[in-house]
Amino acid sequence: MNQFQYYTPTKVIFGKGTEEEAGELVKEYGCKKVLVHYGSGSVKKSGLLDRIFRSLETAGIAYISLGGVVPNPRLSLVYEGIELCKKEEVDFILAVGGGSVIDSAKAIGYGVTNEGDVWDFYEKKRTAQACLPIGVILTIAAAGSEMSDSSVITKEEGWIKRGYSSNYCRPKFAVMNPELTMTLPEYQTMSGCVDIMMHTMERYLNHTENMELTDGISEHLIRTVMKNAKILLADPENYEARAEVMWAGSLSHNGLTGCGTDGGDWATHQLEHELGGMFDVAHGAGLAAVWGSWARYVVEARPERFAQFAVHVMGVEESEDVMQTAQKGIEAMEVFFQSVKMPITMKELGISPSDEQIAELAEKCSFFGKRTIGCVKMLDREDMRRIYMDAR
Ligand code: NZQ
Ligand code: ZN
Repeated sequence: MNQFQYYTPTKVIFGKGTEEEAGELVKEYGCKKVLVHYGSGSVKKSGLLDRIFRSLETAGIAYISLGGVVPNPRLSLVYEGIELCKKEEVDFILAVGGGSVIDSAKAIGYGVTNEGDVWDFYEKKRTAQACLPIGVILTIAAAGSEMSDSSVITKEEGWIKRGYSSNYCRPKFAVMNPELTMTLPEYQTMSGCVDIMMHTMERYLNHTENMELTDGISEHLIRTVMKNAKILLADPENYEARAEVMWAGSLSHNGLTGCGTDGGDWATHQLEHELGGMFDVAHGAGLAAVWGSWARYVVEARPERFAQFAVHVMGVEESEDVMQTAQKGIEAMEVFFQSVKMPITMKELGISPSDEQIAELAEKCSFFGKRTIGCVKMLDREDMRRIYMDAR
């Protein structure tokens, strides 16, 4: 087990009706004015936004609001939010929505508290020194941004999607009522389940040995999400299944399943971010579409680990042929993705990039030839291109 730091400062308020506490929770931070940030309409339609406004009013908190965040959240709205917050002297942001809204809130929070262009952080040109405090009312179990240190933003100019991580943006609190996720379309629920699984799978598929506890937590988390995704496919209003998936979403990306690892292999996420940036696909579905191609490309570099995954997570029978066991695990995961109506190719994802576009994806993913990705096997631009080709 490697050395590690585990920092999870986010207060979690979990269960039915917890969104009613929003006003009192924000009050604890002694702020003067709140920006309520939200997406493209689901929270208006469900009546959640009105309930949040009422809760803030009851607690005597002044607020303004800014909606319009789209999946793969855009930099232009972040700039708008920064200007608005500065003008209105906002000192707290309440994100009501999913990963896209939370990430947009985090980016606005950086922009208000740091000089210069906020995009510099996402381009890794410099590091942020602060962020406005963020609170979250979560409406979809997926990205884990409610407890994570990351924010992922898409710049429209060139359609480049980039992430930036720092502890400054970790939310102060996350309100999680599983009932709020019952209005999700099936595709978003399943896409969220894939993302949650992948946050742990990418930490799990690593080069570290001797991690009994972290491995056990990870294996059980992935199996729990798989089991409950199937339940939700048949019964989307099953509260217990919604609750299991929601809690898994936070634990999968708050650092817990990475404790003691070498950091894991984030190649699938990085490959997907370019798909999201260029083709605006749902993040989890995009991950499902490239994961198998990535896994087959790198499995030879770490067959024992893939075989452990196959046996402990996918229920593959252990055999003396480690490589064969590993391969069976990859196939079983793809069968699972299909069973919950998730794509395992780009075609199934609904996109058909040309050869030139595949080259562009690899170009962007390699930061124009300047970076490699992955840890199971380090991948350069040509490796990325081949994986994209295979996933097509
Ligand atoms: O915008 P509205 O109308 O709210 O609709 C959203 C959106 O269309 C809808 N939705 C959300 N809650 C709903 C609902 N519809 C009905 N009922 C509800 N209760 O779902 C759609 C997707 O929302 P979004 O916030 O985009 O989903 P998700 O949470 O999957 O976030 C995806 C984004 O997070 C990034 C992804 O790259 C992507 O941009 N990620 C962020 C991470 C982080 N900050 O730690 C890590 C992840 O790996 C990921 O990269
Ligand atoms: Zn993700």
